[in-house]
Amino acid sequence: MMRDPLRFAGSLSDRGDLVEVRLGPVRACVPCHPDLLWRVLTDDRTFDKGGPFFDRVRSTIGNGVGSCPYHEHRRQRRLIQPSFHPERLKRYATVMEQEAAALTDEWEHGQTVDVYRALYGAALRTVLRSLFATRLDAEAAAGFRESVETVLDQLTARMFLPRTLQRLPLPANRRFDRAVAELRRGIESLVAEYRRGGTDRGDLLSALITARDETAHDQAAPGGDSLDDTEIHDQVLTMLAAGSDSVAAAVSWALYLLDRTPEALARLQREVDAVLGGGPARGGSVPELPYTGQVIMEALRLYPPGWLFTRVTTERTELGGHQLPPGTTVAFCAPAVHRRTGLYDHPDAFDPDRWLPERARTLPKGAFAAFGGGARKCAGDTFGLTESTLLLAAVVGRWRLRRAPGSDVRPVALSTALRPRRLLMETSTRHARTAQDGQS
Ligand code: HEM
Repeated sequence: MMRDPLRFAGSLSDRGDLVEVRLGPVRACVPCHPDLLWRVLTDDRTFDKGGPFFDRVRSTIGNGVGSCPYHEHRRQRRLIQPSFHPERLKRYATVMEQEAAALTDEWEHGQTVDVYRALYGAALRTVLRSLFATRLDAEAAAGFRESVETVLDQLTARMFLPRTLQRLPLPANRRFDRAVAELRRGIESLVAEYRRGGTDRGDLLSALITARDETAHDQAAPGGDSLDDTEIHDQVLTMLAAGSDSVAAAVSWALYLLDRTPEALARLQREVDAVLGGGPARGGSVPELPYTGQVIMEALRLYPPGWLFTRVTTERTELGGHQLPPGTTVAFCAPAVHRRTGLYDHPDAFDPDRWLPERARTLPKGAFAAFGGGARKCAGDTFGLTESTLLLAAVVGRWRLRRAPGSDVRPVALSTALRPRRLLMETSTRHARTAQDGQS
């Protein structure tokens, strides 16, 4: 499973609709049928976030909307939802355009690029600038970036490795603890500064600070009608953890797949050239780039960045004809369904046309779970899809990337997002940007 997570996950459905696997010392059931996965995702009261894996996540990134249990979730979700309002998304799209242009501007003809690292830098800068419109000074921004990278590098591994290992005074553990503490201090000081300033700066942090839960009086759930400082800290960390390497991984896999599929690349280039005309990608152009969106969806199906999450049953329940006692770990493993034989034609083939609306409509619920589903579906799905589409269009519009020697595209299992180990690609120029493009 750790050596070749996708082959392992893809083979599970051959063994049944609900398959038991071992995650370290814990036995977990994996739904491999879309109906069963859909039930797990949508019945989040019975299949709750909890148990040993989530205890470990909470001890690191806190109890934000992505890790809190069912009884706290609805309130938290109502409070973070305004952060992703379409009007705010338009502003974040401006940041996405700028970062996509900056990334493609800095490359030179004939250069070898470590694609995931480059995209990760752009995606992390995008999420940081969307969270904090306030210009962080260069030192603070670099500090944030370094701490986030250190935390993300180890977060998933810490979910599944024994706790005793994490307590040893090893350099990696010390680095991790230091990064968590630095992030906490950095976020706390920004929250204090925003509270003093009192104005809405149009960014995610302002939205979190000003959010009010209008239904709070009717709720038996704990917590007030707004987020306190600790909760805001936990939401910010959740966004940083959820919103950077997932996008970088999705676009990296898309570029890898396109390099292997010249017809799809040629079609994508035609679409991007027709819409962008060799100029920079713009947020408003996403609806005109349907094939680019299909390529991203297909990359997410074959290589879902969030490939392994867990739930724990809160009561005795039946799933796929099996009785599960309370406390059973259930693994939400999207590739076990995404690569299921019989659900998709040639499930291992890269076929962006699966996502033509008339074909996608015929898929059952639960067939595509790269963003999860139900009440706990990714809050940043539109953000992530917009950003991935813009990044891919920006790269493909200007550069032809070809895989270079020294690549190792085996997916890393224990990273926060399923990503290639090292995807090296050589750049060749397609369109040089004009000075006028640069100013617009
Ligand atoms: C292509 C990019 C992305 C993918 C594939 C992705 C995937 C996911 C998945 C699978 C979940 C559900 C996990 C579970 O059910 O256990 C999730 C949750 C979440 N994601 Fe994303 N995500 C992406 C981008 C983003 C971005 C850009 C943000 C924010 C800026 C974000 C914020 C969140 C949050 C807050 C949650 C928790 C939602 C809740 O529990 O209510 N994600 N994401």
